[in-house]
Amino acid sequence: MARLNIVLASDHNEVLITKATRVPKVDDTVRRLMDDMVETMFEANGVGLAAPQVNVPLRVIVLRVDNQIYQIANPEMVRCDGEQTGLEGCLSVPGMVGEVTRCERVVAKGLNRHGKHVRIKGDGLLARAIQHEVDHLDGILFTMRVNEGTLREVEVAKEAEEAGAVTAV
Ligand code: NI
Repeated sequence: MARLNIVLASDHNEVLITKATRVPKVDDTVRRLMDDMVETMFEANGVGLAAPQVNVPLRVIVLRVDNQIYQIANPEMVRCDGEQTGLEGCLSVPGMVGEVTRCERVVAKGLNRHGKHVRIKGDGLLARAIQHEVDHLDGILFTMRVNEGTLREVEVAKEAEEAGAVTAV
């Protein structure tokens, strides 16, 4: 596995604001990408990462929530219910957090690393992370969804300590 460079919003790389392409087939190249993304996410202490964040314009996301790792190609929201408002951050926008209102519960479908159809059902943090990552695949950053007046700077070193903050997704 290899650690990949994370594209920052400040790099002004179009990949972060461009709709990513569906994965035609989950092959070894895609599996390697998924594994490298997991390593990169761990290294950066994140709970999620989308392929455009490592400069790959494909619909692939990885997540790690409650000690569970998810590697999903072509994720699609099947259901999005309820509402939660909480602090959110992003590995591509280091040093910033803001409140984002999202669905409390989601069901998403996609392909796992073996190319098999899977469904992920989650609430709370997992639901938030899925929505954040799927947004990345559509070229949407959390800063575009942030509740008015709540975006603020935070010391990067303290990000992880922010009460209730979902940083680094
Ligand atoms: Ni993000």
